[in-house]
Amino acid sequence: MRITVLAALVALLTGTPTADAVSEQSDSLATPESFAAIADPAARSAAMFVELGKVLTNPRCVNCHPAGDRPRQGEQSRLHQPPVERGADGHGLPAMHCSICHQQANFDPAGVPGHPEWHLAPREMAWEGKTLAEICVQIKDPARNGGRSLEALVHHIGTDTLVGWAWAPGFGRKPAPGTQQEAGALAEAWVKTGAVCPN
Ligand code: HEC
Ligand code: HEC
Repeated sequence: MRITVLAALVALLTGTPTADAVSEQSDSLATPESFAAIADPAARSAAMFVELGKVLTNPRCVNCHPAGDRPRQGEQSRLHQPPVERGADGHGLPAMHCSICHQQANFDPAGVPGHPEWHLAPREMAWEGKTLAEICVQIKDPARNGGRSLEALVHHIGTDTLVGWAWAPGFGRKPAPGTQQEAGALAEAWVKTGAVCPN
């Protein structure tokens, strides 16, 4: 019953789901060990962050870390349709709460992503339109990363289930490169080598 209502609502508001053209970027992530040939730890650290950047700049992540008040959708990160806004807490305006459409799990018949905590990253955590070097400085900054230590940041990237959605995004969406575990391993190795940002 609930599913029927949701499907009707989604069809009404957004039309039929379409699978985006899948981009050709690399699907895999290099391991921390594969950077062993870079002798200088600072250079190695920055190189590992660049590899992790394949994830951070992926549409699956950036669509929820937008610069403005609207989420983004799809491989091209177009503005969210229907128009929704972040609201006071990232969960949407009272009349257009994310959870009206985004349920506990992906709803593949209508192509709607889902997760119990589905909401927008706060404005200070925006990654859209930023260079990887800028994102690097930002995610290390407790004033802009939710007060996280570097260890907490590694833990969040490697184990948070909302982050993990990006590797199981449901019908018509290309997953983030590699696996969440591999991304967590890169983040950990980056922190252990000094969390150096690329230029
Ligand atoms: C009225 C229904 C509705 C509401 C409310 C809604 N969404 Fe969506 N959202 C959708 C549908 C349908 C899709 C899938 C369409 C697509 O990706 O082309 C979607 C897709 C997305 C995506 C794209 C994921 C990706 O990587 O492609 C994000 C991000 C998103 N929504 C965030 C939000 C957030 C955050 C909120 C609350 C502020 C919200 N949505 C509220 C219907 C809704
Ligand atoms: C459905 C929306 C959504 C998606 C998809 C998403 N995030 Fe987030 N992200 C959030 C929210 C909300 C927060 C704030 C949570 C908090 O501070 O507790 C956040 C915070 C973060 C933070 C900590 C703050 C910061 O910006 O440094 C990191 C790191 C992060 N996300 C990484 C990722 C990565 C990596 C991906 C993709 C693999 C991703 N996120 C996908 C919503 C999302």
